[in-house]
Amino acid sequence: MFDFKYYTPTKVILGRNTQERVAELIREFGGTKILIHYGGGSVVRSGLLKQVTDRLDADGISYVTLGGAVPNPRLSLVYEGIKLCKKEKVDFLLAVGGGSAIDSAKAIGYGVANEGDVWDFYSYKRTAKGCLPLGVILTLAATGSEMSDSSVITKEEGLIKRGYSSDFGRARFAILNPELTMTLPDYQTACGCTDIMMHTMERYFTNGGNMEITDSMAEALLRTVKKNALILYKDPKNYDARAEVMWAGSLSHNGLTGCGNDGGDWMTHKLEHELGGLYDVAHGAGLAAIWGSWARYVYKNCLHRFKRYAVNVMGITDEGNDEETALKGIEAMEDFYRSIGMPTNLRELGVNPTEEELRLMAKKCADGVGGEKGSARVLNEEAMLSIYRASM
Ligand code: NZQ
Ligand code: ZN
Repeated sequence: MFDFKYYTPTKVILGRNTQERVAELIREFGGTKILIHYGGGSVVRSGLLKQVTDRLDADGISYVTLGGAVPNPRLSLVYEGIKLCKKEKVDFLLAVGGGSAIDSAKAIGYGVANEGDVWDFYSYKRTAKGCLPLGVILTLAATGSEMSDSSVITKEEGLIKRGYSSDFGRARFAILNPELTMTLPDYQTACGCTDIMMHTMERYFTNGGNMEITDSMAEALLRTVKKNALILYKDPKNYDARAEVMWAGSLSHNGLTGCGNDGGDWMTHKLEHELGGLYDVAHGAGLAAIWGSWARYVYKNCLHRFKRYAVNVMGITDEGNDEETALKGIEAMEDFYRSIGMPTNLRELGVNPTEEELRLMAKKCADGVGGEKGSARVLNEEAMLSIYRASM
């Protein structure tokens, strides 16, 4: 067991109509001039944006709006947001949407609170000394960005997708109304469930330290999301299933399921970020397409965890030797992905990289992690390339 820091300063309000409390929460955290940041328009079409601006108008809180955060959010919009915030003297950010709007808002917050180019933080040249305070109204349970310290931005030049993590970027409040996720296309719901499970799996498949309490919570979270993803696949309007998944999404990436370990593996995410940067695929689908190949490449080096996963999460009962059990668990996970409409390889994901492009992704991935990374198994560039090839 490793020592750990667990820091979750986000006030979470979960329930029906909770978006109506937005003005009260902004006031509580000292916001007087707000940037409302959102995505490509789903919040306009659903009427949520109007509900929010009506609330702020009624409460006399002034605001400006900036939409356009696309999936795999772009640096150019972040620059635009920083300029707007400075011009309008914005002192509080409100992200309304999924992970892309939240991450873009966090990057804007770093850009306003720090001098110089905000990309420096995402290219690991320096660390942020602050961030504008942020509140979130979540419309997609997936990334956990509403409670996480991370944000992931894509620089158009070179299509470089990189994450930056800092406690300064953690949201002050997160409004979670499961009903707001009911307008999601089924594919995005499934992508979200995949991403949520992956955030815990990245922490679970490790060779470095564990606690029984953390493992038990992680397994419960994974079983719960798996069960409710299947419910939502058939019954997307099921409120309780939406709520289970939404809360699991926040818990999966706020640090809870990593307490006591070495920080986790994270290579499936790193490999996926290159796919997202180059082909603009949905993050959750990209993870599902890579995971099986990653798992088969690493499982022998982390057999105890793969066996435990097979039995405690995937419910494998006909155990053979440890390797057979581990492999059955991997197969069962891929069956689950297929059963909710997720891909299990790049072809099913809809991308068909050339050998040269696979090499490029492996190189960018290795560069991005400083050469090699992983805990279940440490991967270098050659290993990354092997996994990309196996996922074709
Ligand atoms: O842009 P709009 O029009 O809002 O539409 C979005 C988008 O097309 C739509 N959507 C969201 N809520 C909806 C809805 N459509 C109908 N009804 C609703 N209620 O869904 C699409 C995807 O939205 P997006 O925000 O891009 O998805 P997600 O939340 O999965 O975020 C993905 C981004 O987050 C990063 C990913 O890499 C990716 O760039 N991640 C961020 C993390 C973090 N900050 O901690 C961790 C993750 O591992 C991940 O890397
Ligand atoms: Zn993720």
